[in-house]
Amino acid sequence: MTIEELIAIVREAAQKMQQKNFEIEQKDGYANIVTSTDVAVQEFLCQRLSEALPGCGFLCEEEDQWDTSHEYTWVIDPIDGTANFSRGMDHCCVCVGLKHLDKMEMAVVYLPWNDELFHAERGKGAYRNGAPIHVSDRPFANSLLCTALPVYHKEYADVCSQIILEAFKQCNDLRRFGSAATELCYLAMGRCELYFEYLLSPWDFSAASLILEEAGGVLSNLTATPLDYTHSSGVLAANNAENLKQLHAIVQKHTTPKA
Ligand code: IPD
Ligand code: CA
Ligand code: CA
Repeated sequence: MTIEELIAIVREAAQKMQQKNFEIEQKDGYANIVTSTDVAVQEFLCQRLSEALPGCGFLCEEEDQWDTSHEYTWVIDPIDGTANFSRGMDHCCVCVGLKHLDKMEMAVVYLPWNDELFHAERGKGAYRNGAPIHVSDRPFANSLLCTALPVYHKEYADVCSQIILEAFKQCNDLRRFGSAATELCYLAMGRCELYFEYLLSPWDFSAASLILEEAGGVLSNLTATPLDYTHSSGVLAANNAENLKQLHAIVQKHTTPKA
């Protein structure tokens, strides 16, 4: 499958987001919702991608599509930023990444309301609407940190608040757009410099992480080891290794048990 074919499938899937009369269902309280559009986009993607590249596994957010036993796996968040989507706010995107063994190989993240399409293939750079993108070179003190309190795990809200507060004092300012993949793509194109979230699912970060790496950025989990694209984990990201190290030090200070 070529990246052009994948882009065409993702654009077609995103047309389903134009549909205005979707239904909203609670998966687990007010914070964790799914719309009928999330399900429709995912169904469309799974069908078209399994026709285009037979024999792949799927790791998708909705409806228990979790089969990672194949050499190639599609990692899909049909809509990242569902709360925004359900309320008519534009920070929401379709995320599709192709994993080969333990590495992401190809990725597309598309924000239909802004018509911003990010894509990357391993070793071939990252692009926004076809033009190459690169992270910024801003130092930590002039960085914007995209972050969030853990909406599905409020038991971690206190430790996250401490981390975010300390990072805020050391950087320029904070942003919270409500879509992890959007935020990682913004980092990739130099709109922001830092990213922290305490616990994400693989479909939140897999596609966007390849885009960020190909744009020169760096990511890790909270213990400064590489991300695993089949498991949930915390995510730290930055425009360069030095800034990631500073962010990791803040996280470590608040997550290491005191002796
Ligand atoms: C969520 C968004 C949000 C992040 C949450 C994610 P969803 O994904 O990426 O920004 O803070 O942790 O779960 O539920 O909109 O697909
Ligand atoms: Ca998501
Ligand atoms: Ca989602």
